[in-house]
Formats: sequence, C-alpha cells, structure tokens
Amino acid sequence: MALYILLLMLTACAATPQDLSGKMFTFPQESNTAYVQLTPKRVDFGAITVCLRTITDLNRNHVLFSLSTPSGSDAFLIFKSTIDEILIYVHGPPGTFGGEDYKVNTWHSICSTWDSVTGVVQLWLDNKPFIRKYVGGARIRNPSIIIGQEQDSHGGGFDKTQSFVGMISDVHMWDYTLSACEIQNYVDELNFTPGNVLNWSELDFQITGRVLTEDKQMTCH
Ligand SMILES: *[C@@H]1O[C@H](CO)[C@@H](O)[C@H](O)[C@H]1NC(C)=O
Repeated sequence: MALYILLLMLTACAATPQDLSGKMFTFPQESNTAYVQLTPKRVDFGAITVCLRTITDLNRNHVLFSLSTPSGSDAFLIFKSTIDEILIYVHGPPGTFGGEDYKVNTWHSICSTWDSVTGVVQLWLDNKPFIRKYVGGARIRNPSIIIGQEQDSHGGGFDKTQSFVGMISDVHMWDYTLSACEIQNYVDELNFTPGNVLNWSELDFQITGRVLTEDKQMTCH
C-alpha cells in the first residue's frame, strides 16, 4: 500500500512542471530503455533554438537531443558522431560541424539554431559559433522530444549504440532563433530569457528507466 501511494505521488509529480534549476539528469548506464520525454509548451515551429549542457565519457557516436514528428524521426536531431563532428539534422541530410573541441569528461554548452525561412542551421559549442550551413526544412509540427535515446520512429526505435551516457542539464528550447549575444549569455550562465517551448525552470517531463534527477554539484564551497 505504501509503495502504491509512493508510486501515485511520483506519477503526480511527473505530471506537473518542475523547477530543475541547479539539477541535472544522470544517465548512468548504456541502454535502449532509459530516457526522458520532454513535453513542449508549443507544438508548431518555423524556427528553433535548442541549448543544453552535457558531459560524457563516450567516444562512440551518441544522441544529444532527439525531436521526431509523425512525418519524420529526425525532424530536429543533435548528434555527436564517432569522428570529430557534431551533426544537426532538420528532416533531411545533416549540417556537419567538424574540427571542434568536444572533449570527454568536460561540461560543454551546446546550442543550435535553425529557421525555415533561410533553411540555415548553426551550432555553438561553448563560446564558439560554427559556420552557418544550409539544411532546408519545412515547419516542424507535433514533436516528440526525447533526451537519452535517439528516435528512429516517432517516440521509439531506440538503439543502445546511439544512446547517451552521462549528464545533461539546463535544457531550453525556443520557437525562434536566439541572437549570438543571447547564446553567449546562456553559455556564460548569465541572465537569459528561458525557453518558451522547453523551460528548465518549469519543465514538464517523464522519466522512463534508469535516469536520475540529481543536484548538479560542480565545486565544493
Ligand atoms: C520559465 O519558468 C520560470 C519559473 O517558473 C518562469 O518564471 C518564467 O516566466 C518561464 N519563462 C518562460 C519564457 O516560459
């Protein structure tokens, strides 16, 4: 009975948005079962900015942010490939950002912007903006947003060898492109306008499998 009530409480908690300031999701194990589903406040996008902070020791390829729609599983996908590249997919062939400084066992801030008018996608890794690249892409509607696993079908089709192992924090998503200055403020953890689609201070999420919500302790005070 006590367990049942606890389960009820956990379910109730997951249903209401939570303030995750100072916290992180820990993915402590490779699997094709552990992930976090994020419920967006808006579901129709002509432009996107996604920012997050991440740390891992994976040398293989792995997913950082997976947004699928009913019409395409790689509608907006941020993916670290095995070679020294980060790929950003918007429905079609990815924008490829190589020669970066994505080091293991180091916290990185990663931001990406895209808009359907220019079809141009851009990546920021920490304080470094990469070249702006054309990927095209039409409006994105009815997303399923998942971190920890890469969706090969809408809301599923996970592959253990592309899963994320490590920690992810400060996930924000906007339905417009942030200016370089605003991205700089995010990276430097200064004041910035939280995401109007995903807001880490008001996050509606559902954990499946072995994912922990923990304090993000960086240093000892
Ligand atoms: C983000 O969440 C915080 C805390 O609930 C809230 O004060 C703020 O208005 C939200 N921002 C947006 C853009 O939704």
